[in-house]
Amino acid sequence: MNMRVILVYGSVTTKTEMVAKLIEEQLGDHLEKSVEVSEIEPADLKEYDLVIAGIPTWDVGELEYSWQDFYDNMDGQDYSGLHIAIFGLGDQDAYADTYQDAMGILYDKFIECGAGGQIGFTSVDGHDHDESKAQQGDQFCGLAIDEDNQSNLTEERVNDWCEELIQWIQSKTEASV
Ligand SMILES: Cc1cc2nc3c(=O)[nH]c(=O)nc-3n(C[C@H](O)[C@H](O)[C@H](O)COP(=O)(O)O)c2cc1C
Repeated sequence: MNMRVILVYGSVTTKTEMVAKLIEEQLGDHLEKSVEVSEIEPADLKEYDLVIAGIPTWDVGELEYSWQDFYDNMDGQDYSGLHIAIFGLGDQDAYADTYQDAMGILYDKFIECGAGGQIGFTSVDGHDHDESKAQQGDQFCGLAIDEDNQSNLTEERVNDWCEELIQWIQSKTEASV
């Protein structure tokens, strides 16, 4: 049985959208659908096995605006059976105390609603920040991208992350045959 995988992103100044397109290219046929978060409702995600969520942090530690609307409607959703892999965009130089906060806040909400996590966690090594709600120990709860200061690292970070996701998808697909 194939895993049903959807990519959902929100983006104000198109950087997260650009990363979403890179991920689309890398995942190819593994991805069923890619949408902007303003186009879907929380209940729509229940039919998928894996949600790849892309969110930038805005307004100093806050969720991107369309994601905020989505988040406000997540209460009461039962996401058991769904897995979440998340990527975030942030600026570690200008916002060192709230770096990637939105990724952490949204991840926690998916887990609170019953989703399975721990997929695609990445090391904080190579990032220079003071505080982040997305940090758990020495890892981020997903893929942290900083197009403002480290755009030269984006492609490699995305490629490595997608390789891991594909392995995870394939392992689940084989397990359910
Ligand atoms: C007003 C403003 C507030 C921001 N606040 C944060 C923040 O608190 N933490 C962070 O990591 N990045 C912050 N950023 C950086 C954005 O998350 C970053 O530029 C991101 O790449 C934007 O993604 P988008 O183009 O998809 O909207 C902020 C940027 C602006 C302009």
